[in-house]
Amino acid sequence: TMADHLRKYESVFTLTPQRMRMIVDAFRETLELGLAKPKQTVPMIPTFVFGWPTGQETGDILAVDLGTSYLPLFAAPLIALLSQFAGGTNLRVCLVTLQGEGKFEITQTKYRLTEEQKQEDGQKLFDFCAECLKTFVDTQLADENSGLKIKEGEKLPLGFTFSYPCSQERIDHGELIRWTKGFGAANTEGQDVAAMFRKSLEKYDLPIELTALINDTTGTLIASHYVNPKTKIAVIFGTGCNAAYMERVGDIPKIKNLGIDDEAAMAINCEWGAFDSFEHEHLPRTKYDAIVDDTSNKPGEQAFEKLISGRYLGEILRLVICELIDEGVLFLGQNTYKLEAPYVFDTAFLSLMESDPTDELLMIIGIFTHFFAVETTLAERQFFRALAKLIGRRAARLSACGIAAIVSKMEYLEEGCLVGADGSLYNKYPGFADRVHEGLVDVFGEKGRNIITHHAEDGSGVGSAIIAAMTKIRKDAGL
Ligand code: BG6
Ligand code: GLC
Repeated sequence: TMADHLRKYESVFTLTPQRMRMIVDAFRETLELGLAKPKQTVPMIPTFVFGWPTGQETGDILAVDLGTSYLPLFAAPLIALLSQFAGGTNLRVCLVTLQGEGKFEITQTKYRLTEEQKQEDGQKLFDFCAECLKTFVDTQLADENSGLKIKEGEKLPLGFTFSYPCSQERIDHGELIRWTKGFGAANTEGQDVAAMFRKSLEKYDLPIELTALINDTTGTLIASHYVNPKTKIAVIFGTGCNAAYMERVGDIPKIKNLGIDDEAAMAINCEWGAFDSFEHEHLPRTKYDAIVDDTSNKPGEQAFEKLISGRYLGEILRLVICELIDEGVLFLGQNTYKLEAPYVFDTAFLSLMESDPTDELLMIIGIFTHFFAVETTLAERQFFRALAKLIGRRAARLSACGIAAIVSKMEYLEEGCLVGADGSLYNKYPGFADRVHEGLVDVFGEKGRNIITHHAEDGSGVGSAIIAAMTKIRKDAGL
């Protein structure tokens, strides 16, 4: 029966508290190693964002955000899902007016990126970003209500949120270590993407200065702290999964030679999605995870992210379904070709299945008939829902391990701290945050309740702008 099958999957997808604590220990060592030596798998990137915002950051600042998912992912109503289910990525351009003391206004426009643009030439991709920026700025300047003015000879500061691992030597520099989340544009890995974007900005002759290159996690950390100073860690649970926190410079041995004051604080972009890549020693990988990895455009890489993020959860569930189709357990006598194409089962479906309020599981009927043209029995639907729960719960509990590793390394447990969290999975997946919190209690016991995640402020827009403003203030002060 379906219940017997479920038991088998329960045993492979369930994480015991004991196993979680082992993962936390290994994770913590990995974080330390990344801080100690350059070029580690988890690179623990020094971002050159020095300390927290003071609230004195003000003015008009532009932000460009490359790498955020296009809306249909996790759009709740089935109608929206039915309309156009391509998934994809946005380019977002924002004008942020920082008013000081945690207040701001934001105007933004989103542009759709095509799959080709993500895979073709990198310089062409940045040219497109610059073109969209030009359209946006021209529109704002022409609009009397927008309030944007640029004086003769003046340049507007720009924060460029580029949410991929870049190793930085300064804040306006970043060499792309590797593409993640399915991007693959040529001639970009190993290059300074800030310089590439600057080249594109010059082509369009824009009165704009690329002030800061930032990761979405760093932006989220700063933006969340701007409005709530108890925030010490930021995590993105979206297409990808990653975290940032504030480190004491003296505790980043690999940058000792730069002569920065030991007591200064610098944000670290962990790029923890890479935890356990290549070696696969610490994480509980099932055979479905191994297939997701082998068939990805980057086998071996982003091992932690592949068990957690929105890009992969649907695919994991689809692979289990395919196994049961092959074993003759599911959909016997029905044509299942629609379920057999990689990545057709979006993570939004897991989210919808878990939140189906009806006894008959009508939402699940809808998903399987409309998208995959197969009939389901109630027992099967209950099984799918339970499976979604196992996969979603494992993702949340593994995420808790990452947070716990930072918390224990930084000794935040006693005092407690807030974790600013953002991304489609965190925002739309029912119960995701509760499961992360449960996981923290499993790792730390009751004290785990001192660590609380909350929906973060817009890191890629507002955070990026605050960082650009912080950078300008430092520059004007001659730092
Ligand atoms: C958004 C954040 O909510 O989520 C961005 O504002 C972040 O900073 C993004 O990059 C990530 O989620 P997704 O689902 O778009 O990959
Ligand atoms: C991927 C990227 C990382 C980003 C995360 C969330 O892990 O490598 O830079 O922060 O996705 O968007």
